[in-house]
Parts: sequence; C-alpha cells; structure tokens
Amino acid sequence: MKKAKKILVAPSLLAADFGSLSAEIKSIEKAGADLLHLDIMDGHFVSNITIGQAIVKTIRNLTGLPLDVHLMIEKPEKFIPVFAKSGSDYLTIHIEACPSPRKTIGLIKTLGLKAGISLKPGTGLDEIKGILKAVDLVLFMTVEPGFGGQAFMPSVLPKVSQLRQVWDGDIEVDGGINKNTAKQAVEAGVNILVAGTTIFKAKDRKKAIDELRRRND
Ligand code: DX5
Ligand code: ZN
Repeated sequence: MKKAKKILVAPSLLAADFGSLSAEIKSIEKAGADLLHLDIMDGHFVSNITIGQAIVKTIRNLTGLPLDVHLMIEKPEKFIPVFAKSGSDYLTIHIEACPSPRKTIGLIKTLGLKAGISLKPGTGLDEIKGILKAVDLVLFMTVEPGFGGQAFMPSVLPKVSQLRQVWDGDIEVDGGINKNTAKQAVEAGVNILVAGTTIFKAKDRKKAIDELRRRND
C-alpha cells in the first residue's frame, strides 16, 4: 500500500486584510501554513478581478513560503512567463480556460515550476485524462470559482476519490473548506487544503490550521 501523503494547508490570501498584507502573511507563517495560495482573476474567466503579477512579486519578497498561484484567467499561456518571473512555485491553470493545456503545462515545467490543472465543479475528469502524466497537481474547485466565502459542494468528492485511486500526485481542494469539509476531502484522497475564510476570519489562526490538518476527529 502507498504511504499516506502529509496533509498541507494553503491559506488563500483573498480573505486577508490587504491593508496589512505583510502582517497578515507573517501571521499565517507563524500559525503553521505550508503554502500561500494566491488567486489571480481577470474579470473574464470569472466575474471578479483580484491581483496581478506586481503584487505576486511583492508577496514573494515578503515570505519564504511556497507560492501556490491559481490562475483563473483566460489564455493563461500568455501570462505563464510573467507569473514565473514574479516568484510563483506552483502555477495552476484551468482546463476550461486553456485551448492547448498540454503546451501550457509544458511551458510551466520548462520554467522549472510545479504545474497544476484545475477543474470547476461541473467539469468531468475525462477532460484532464490526457495531461495527468504531465502535471504535479490537480486542483478541484469545490465552489464555482470567483469569490471566497461560498458553501462547499460535496458533489465534487466522488471525482476526488476516483482520481486518487489511479493517480499519486498532489490533489488540492479549494472553496468552502472548514474542519468538517476538510475531513471529507482528506478521506476522499486530498492532500492539500486551500482555505481563506476559515483561516483569516478565525480568532486563532494556528488552531484553525491545526484543525484542518488533523485527519481523524
Ligand atoms: C475562489 C478562490 C478561493 C477562495 C476560497 O474562486 O479560488 O481560493 O479564496 O475561499 P474560501 O476558503 O473562503 O471558500
Ligand atoms: Zn483559489
């Protein structure tokens, strides 16, 4: 049997106080975050706009945490080099946004980064079958991408279990993750948990992260 993967927690900066970015990042470092999740939205692929490469670069200079950059943008291939240059460690694109995912994933790998592919809740596993061998990470959206603070969609979990049975890479979930939904996700085979509201709005961020990481209570 394969060894169980360590559960990693990636706070999503979207729920942080952007007026105190530096202090917010220090706070989740101290609380035990494993990665820092950054949501890039372009107002086209999703109906919201967030941050661009200049802020990613600024954040790169504020922390040693690996940057887990989630591109919710159309034509991600155009922006891979700039986000690589800005200090991303993981670059995840959406299968629904990318006309030539194989080429784009290849570009991310050539630049020396970990490559991820993400699926919206309604997108089937078949869509990524052909590129599974090329990616390091599969990110399952457990809400419709675009906004923080939405409710977790348990209907995504069967896809997670199905993939985990045949694939040993990193499986990440994003959207509505709290200690209850994290437990369900980990049971289905997830090893990286993204959480915005649950961590940044918690009174005790260390406790919030520890509770997400815990597997069996
Ligand atoms: C939504 C983003 C998420 C978001 C999660 O499109 O990809 O990363 O910040 O927020 P919560 O954890 O509050 O659902
Ligand atoms: Zn995200």
